[in-house]
Amino acid sequence: MKSFLNVQDLGDLKQALAEAQEIKADRYKYDTLGKNKTLLMVFFNNSLRTRLSTQKAAMNLGMNVIVLDVNAGAWKLETERGVIMDGDKSEHLLEAIPVMGSYCDVIGIRSFAGLTDRDYDYAETVYNQFVQYSGKPVFAMETATVHPLQAFADLITIEENSPLPTSPKGEGTRLGTPSLGGDRGGLPKVVLTWAPHPKSLPQAVPNSFAQWMLAADVDFVITHPEGYELDPRFVAGAHVEYDQRKAFEGADFIYAKNWSCPGVTRPEDYGKILHDYHQMMHWTVDAEHMSWTNNAKFMHCLPVRRGMIVTDDVIEAPTSLVIPEAANREISATVVLKRILQG
Ligand code: CP
Repeated sequence: MKSFLNVQDLGDLKQALAEAQEIKADRYKYDTLGKNKTLLMVFFNNSLRTRLSTQKAAMNLGMNVIVLDVNAGAWKLETERGVIMDGDKSEHLLEAIPVMGSYCDVIGIRSFAGLTDRDYDYAETVYNQFVQYSGKPVFAMETATVHPLQAFADLITIEENSPLPTSPKGEGTRLGTPSLGGDRGGLPKVVLTWAPHPKSLPQAVPNSFAQWMLAADVDFVITHPEGYELDPRFVAGAHVEYDQRKAFEGADFIYAKNWSCPGVTRPEDYGKILHDYHQMMHWTVDAEHMSWTNNAKFMHCLPVRRGMIVTDDVIEAPTSLVIPEAANREISATVVLKRILQG
C-alpha cells in the first residue's frame, strides 16, 4: 500500500477487519517488521489521539518515529505555487517535502481543510503534494476531506459492539461481507447525526465515516439540518433523513459529529455555520434523543464539546463507546502501517 486515504485503499474490508482482530489479540505480533524503518508524522494541526495512537502503532511494529509539528519550531511553509515569497513564510512545501522524504520510510500527514477554498480542499492539495514529491508511502492522519484511521477504528468498534449475532457471511466477524446496497434487513442500524458546535469544523470525519459505513454491512442513515449535505463522492447511495427523531428510531449506534457547510448545493456557503448554534441546540444528543433508539451505543471521534454535541449523562453512560473507540485507533493504525511496511 503506497497511499491510505480512502476505504478502497485497504482492499477487502472483511480481511482488514480480521487483521484488526489479529493485531488486537497480539499487538506485537509483527514487532520486527519495522526494524530500521522510520515513520515521520507531520502535523500541520493539533492532535491528541492521532499523535499518540499512531506513534504507539509504529512502536508495536518496531519502527523509529519522528514527529514534526510544522507550526512549532519548523520554518513557516508556503503551500501555494506561483507566489512571490516576500511574507512570513520562509520555505516552500515543494522543497520541504522531498527533504522530509529523505529522512524516513513512511510519512503520515495531518493537514486540515482551510474551509475557504472548496476546490483546493477537496483536491487534497497538500496530501497529494506529499504523495507526488516525497518518494515515500503516505497515509492520512486527517486531511482536508478524510480521516480514514478514525473511520477504520469506528468500524472495528461497531463490529465489536454489534448487538446482532455473527453474520453467516462474516466467517467470524459480526458485520459480514462488505457490500453496497442490497437487503439491509437484520443489519445493525448506524446513524450519523449532525450536532451543534460554536466553531466552523471540517467535513473530514463525517465524509470518511459515511464512506466506510457504505462499504460495510450496516443499515446506514445520515441526519442533519438542510444545507449540510455532504459531498456525493462520499455519501452517494446513503439514506439521508432530515427528521432527526425519525432517523434515531431503531438505531443501534448513534455517531455524533458537527461539520460546517460542505457547499454542495451553495458553494458560496462552503465552510460556514448556517445557523446560530443557540438555535440548533435541539440537535444536541441527550437522554431523550437516545430514548428514541434501540438502546443505541453512543460514538464520537473526540475531542468532543460536552453540552454542545452530547450531554454529560449520555457520554458517561455505559452505552458510550467513546473510550474503546479511541483505543481502537492504535489497532487501525497498526494494521495500516503493517500493510504499508509489507508493501
Ligand atoms: N479523533 C482524533 O483524530 O483525535 P485527535 O484530533 O486528538 O488526533
